[in-house]
Amino acid sequence: MSPAMNGSCGNRPKLSRRAFLGGAASGTIIGLLPQTAALAKGPDYVLEPKAGRAQLLDPGAPKTAIWGYEGLTPGPVLRARQGEPFRVRLRNRLTEPTTIHWHGMRIDNAMDGVPDLTQAPVPPGGTFDYRFTPQDAGTFWYHSHYRGYEQVARGLNGVLIVEEKVPPAVDRDVVLVFDDWRLKESGEIDSGSFGAIGDRAHAGRLGNILTLNGAPLHDLAVRSGERLRLRLVNVANARVLAIGFPGHRPMVAAFDGQPIAPFEPGRDDLVLAPGQRIDLIMDMTAAPGRKTPIEVDTGREKLVAGNLVYQTGSRVRRPADDAIPALPANPLAAGVDLAAAMDVDIVMTGGAMSFFEQAVYKGKNFLARQLAQEHGQVWALNGVAGMPKEPLFKAARGRAVRVRLVNDTRWPHGMHFHGHHVREIARNRGVVRPHWRDTVLIQPGEEITVAFLADNPGKWLIHCHMLEHQLGGMITWFAVA
Ligand code: C2O
Ligand code: CU
Repeated sequence: MSPAMNGSCGNRPKLSRRAFLGGAASGTIIGLLPQTAALAKGPDYVLEPKAGRAQLLDPGAPKTAIWGYEGLTPGPVLRARQGEPFRVRLRNRLTEPTTIHWHGMRIDNAMDGVPDLTQAPVPPGGTFDYRFTPQDAGTFWYHSHYRGYEQVARGLNGVLIVEEKVPPAVDRDVVLVFDDWRLKESGEIDSGSFGAIGDRAHAGRLGNILTLNGAPLHDLAVRSGERLRLRLVNVANARVLAIGFPGHRPMVAAFDGQPIAPFEPGRDDLVLAPGQRIDLIMDMTAAPGRKTPIEVDTGREKLVAGNLVYQTGSRVRRPADDAIPALPANPLAAGVDLAAAMDVDIVMTGGAMSFFEQAVYKGKNFLARQLAQEHGQVWALNGVAGMPKEPLFKAARGRAVRVRLVNDTRWPHGMHFHGHHVREIARNRGVVRPHWRDTVLIQPGEEITVAFLADNPGKWLIHCHMLEHQLGGMITWFAVA
């Protein structure tokens, strides 16, 4: 048994501190995540979701049985090129159906991977070809959208990089995938608690083990003077994470795959809700031989997810006046003309400590208690729990839409829009952050108004990316005709 697990097992929604701060574990030097070879003909990649084993606990402790693309968690880093056709063949090696959702990609609706809304689930042994031409370059990710609260928690997620035509000048491009896991003392995934009603009604499935690139302590070998592009991705079911690189000055270059003019983040800018990404450009300014932590603040405790391990005796020379490069812009509308915008409110209610009295579910009215006990539905959007038959709104293609997201609950939510990026234009507290995002973190009591152009025809989900909240009712959709 790993000492890291002492006192941190079972359902306690608390990450192990000792795993990361004890100092006993020595992380191995690992470079980039595995990359699969692109095939010359046929699909660019074949992805097989299947069972695998991963060393999520410290070396020497038992491995964990996971499900992963190619049996790995996170799955292989996929690389596509902006504006060029891309094809991935999913071959389902699981014992249950699955789909892949390309999170944050503005692509054809038929490729969005939402079971029963955009495609039939792919049965065991079945295949599905995802084909699309990415219009945006940047950091995206892919994950199961079939019983995601379980399949993603078992490890079915990975990073999709869409390469810029002219990439920024950096020495290296590094992917950092943050995840948390709820493991038993044996190292097994606590599978008895998938979708547990308590998790649905509270913060979602919080783990007790944090991993970075699938390891309990991920050490990244760096050289003094190097300039890195870091692609941070939070693939956890529910955990909100604030990332820190003490001793360094990261510059934010993109949120959720959409470039912004590089800026030095404040304390709240390096927060990742589940599903969110941040691209950083960061110079390795410490001396050869130094080791500095990659910190994760969960709001309750500060953990070390890995280290920047400066190699001895090697240094990259940089000119002194070397400005941080901006990423080339994506073809997003520079702004959204709000004069003729359609207005939509999404009011979130429910969850522990503020249960609603009643809500509509599958077209019928229910009292909260019955809805929770019989249907596991504990949240509502505009008084409706779960996926409605009719869309929340219909927009003509090209219509500007303004959505006011109101969090009338005691819990944070990361609201994800499929097929579109939305821009924050107003909020009831604090400073407006006019960034384009596909997943918007909304704290209790907050009201955030976002705007976007409904320019992608099809049926698109809006749901909380705390996957147990999605399961527990926080899901709806809109149609663009
Ligand atoms: Cu990343 Cu509908 O999800
Ligand atoms: Cu939520």
